[in-house]
Amino acid sequence: MRIDKFLSECKVATRRESGAAIRRGQVLLDGVAVKRADTQVDPEHCEVVYCGERVFYRRYTYVLLNKPDGYVSATEDARDKTVLDLLPPELRKFDLFPCGRLDKNTLGLVLLTNNGPLAHALLSPKRHVEKVYRFECAHPLGETEIEALQAGVDIGGYVTKPCRIVMQSETSGEITLAEGKYHQIKLMWNAVDNRILYLERIRFACLTLDGLERGAWRMLTDEEIKTLEEMGN
Ligand code: URA
Repeated sequence: MRIDKFLSECKVATRRESGAAIRRGQVLLDGVAVKRADTQVDPEHCEVVYCGERVFYRRYTYVLLNKPDGYVSATEDARDKTVLDLLPPELRKFDLFPCGRLDKNTLGLVLLTNNGPLAHALLSPKRHVEKVYRFECAHPLGETEIEALQAGVDIGGYVTKPCRIVMQSETSGEITLAEGKYHQIKLMWNAVDNRILYLERIRFACLTLDGLERGAWRMLTDEEIKTLEEMGN
């Protein structure tokens, strides 16, 4: 790959800015100043320094976010704030989008990426990727309702797949799903004449919030990326 393309893919500089930095001798390839913008680099193995900063090549970017109430899981919206509004400008350059949707009033874990094929694979019902939600509901859940919810209920022409529910009180607990239909949990509770009052996603695949504050974000670790990419293969 050309070094000016490499720098623009890494969102470090436009190709014009790269050309100017190269002319000033401020782009180093394996310790040597580059003279031409069409110099070839091997992105995985070369060491590139731009204006004194080492540039790390990442084909894709992955951000984990703790969504607050009132934000929509979309890249833009005419009325509401979106989860992308929680990111700093330098991250918004990466064309990230949410991997799956949480309702506007659902809180918690959202994965943002620009890796379309992987997002698609992780959301595919065939992969059975687990999502764990903490819930609170309006009325106590009895054994019969818990069994019905776990076995699968009709949410309007679709019968949900088996899931696991662990109660923490009569009206709260955690549910683990391996699918993700639109408004699924709220519709499941409606199907047993109950109502969800609070919903928070606390796990998606291998990812957990792990102390990340509401409204905060962090980059995924190399290990998390590797695990997700292996799951998507
Ligand atoms: N199920 C719902 O009903 N809403 C969500 O946001 C996620 C799962």
